[in-house]
Amino acid sequence: MENEQFIHQILEILKKEISQIKDIDSLLDRILFEARKFTASDAGSLFLVEGTKLKFSYVQNDSLFKDLTFNKHLYSSQEMEIDDKSIAGYVALTGQTLQIEDVYDLGPDEPYSFNSTYDLASSYRTRSMLVVPLRTGENKIVGVIQLINTLQSDQTPGIYSQQHRLMAELFADQAAIAIERAKMTRAIILRMIKMAELRDPKETGAHVNRVGAYSIEIYHQWARTRNIPEKDIKYFLDTLRIAAMLHDVGKVAISDTILKKPGKLTQEEYELMKWHTVAGHELFRDPTSDLDSMAADIALTHHEKWDGTGYPGHIKQDKENPGAASQGKKGERIPLAGRIVALADVYDALISKRCYKDAWPEEKVLSHIQEQSGFHFDPSLVEAFFSIYEVIKAIRDKYADPETG
Ligand SMILES: [Fe+2]
Ligand SMILES: [Fe+2]
Repeated sequence: MENEQFIHQILEILKKEISQIKDIDSLLDRILFEARKFTASDAGSLFLVEGTKLKFSYVQNDSLFKDLTFNKHLYSSQEMEIDDKSIAGYVALTGQTLQIEDVYDLGPDEPYSFNSTYDLASSYRTRSMLVVPLRTGENKIVGVIQLINTLQSDQTPGIYSQQHRLMAELFADQAAIAIERAKMTRAIILRMIKMAELRDPKETGAHVNRVGAYSIEIYHQWARTRNIPEKDIKYFLDTLRIAAMLHDVGKVAISDTILKKPGKLTQEEYELMKWHTVAGHELFRDPTSDLDSMAADIALTHHEKWDGTGYPGHIKQDKENPGAASQGKKGERIPLAGRIVALADVYDALISKRCYKDAWPEEKVLSHIQEQSGFHFDPSLVEAFFSIYEVIKAIRDKYADPETG
C-alpha cells in the first residue's frame, strides 16, 4: 500500500513536468528518459503510430552512446508494420504489455520474434524488455515504449519486476495524453506556417522543419561545451524548435507583388521585404509564454549579422520608410536564438534548390559559412555547426524537399 502511494506520488510529479513540455520531440525524449530512469533501463526506444505503421521515433542507450553525436540516429526514419511479427508491433496491435526475460529465448508459441539486426550492427546485447503501449483516454494507441535491459545494483542486466510494469503502464497513460496534446500544438503551428507558405511558396514546410531541427542541434552542441545545466538546455531546446520554425511567418504581411515576383527585387521592394522581420515580431508581441518571446526574438533578428551589417537593427516603427531603420544589431546584442536561426536559415537556403536558383555545391556552401564566421555569423555557433555536421546532413535527408517543385 505504501509502495503504491509512493508510485502515485512520483507519477504526479512526472505528470506535471511532462505537461509543461510543448514540443513533441522534446516530449518524446523526456518520456523515454523518465521511463528508463524509474525502471533502471540501460536502453530504450519509443515508437509512434503513424497511419498503419509504427515509426521508430526515439532511441536512447547509455552503454552505447554517451556521446550526443548519436543524435544523428534520431533523424533516421525507420518504420515497421503494426502486426504480431515484431515485439513493438505486437504491443501496438494488441495493446498488451510484454514483459520479456530474454529476447533471444522467446517461447515457441509467441507470434513475434526479436529483430537482432541492431544488436549485430552495434554489438550490443539486448536481454530483458518491458514493452508498454501508449494509450490515450479514448483507448487509442498512439505509440509504444520499449524499455531494454533493466540494470541491477551491480550494473548487470536483470529482469523487469511487477512494480516496474505497474509504473510503466501508469506513466504510459499520462504520456499518451501529453503526446496527443503536443501533436495538437504542433499541428496548429504547422498551420500557421502553411499560411505563410501559401503566401510565399519559397518558404516550404520542409525548409522550416530543417531550420527547426538544425537550430536545436546547433544550440545543443554549443550549450554542451559551455557547462550549461542539462535542465536549462532541455528547456531552451523545447522552445527553440517551434520558435525557429516560425522565423518567417511575418511574410504574411508582405504584399503578393513582392513575394511572388519571379525576378530580382528592386532596392525599394527589398526594403519592404525586410519588414517581414518586424511584422513577425508584431505577431508575438504581448507574449503569453516563453515560446512567444523567443518566436518574437527570432522573427525580428534572424537577418541580423554578427558584425552589425544586418537588418532591421534597432527599428523605428516606420513602415512607410523602412529604410530609415538604424544600424543593425551587433554581436551578442542579437539574441542567441536569432543568431542560431540566422546560420541555420542561410545554410539551408544555399544548399537547397529553390524555384529561383540552383543549389550551391556543398563545398562552396561550407566555405562560405566558414568565411562568414565573425562577419555574418557568430563564430562560436559556426564552430558548433561544423562539429555536428554529420547530424546536419542526417536532418537534410530526413526532411528532404519533395521531388517536384
Ligand atoms: Fe526571413
Ligand atoms: Fe527561411
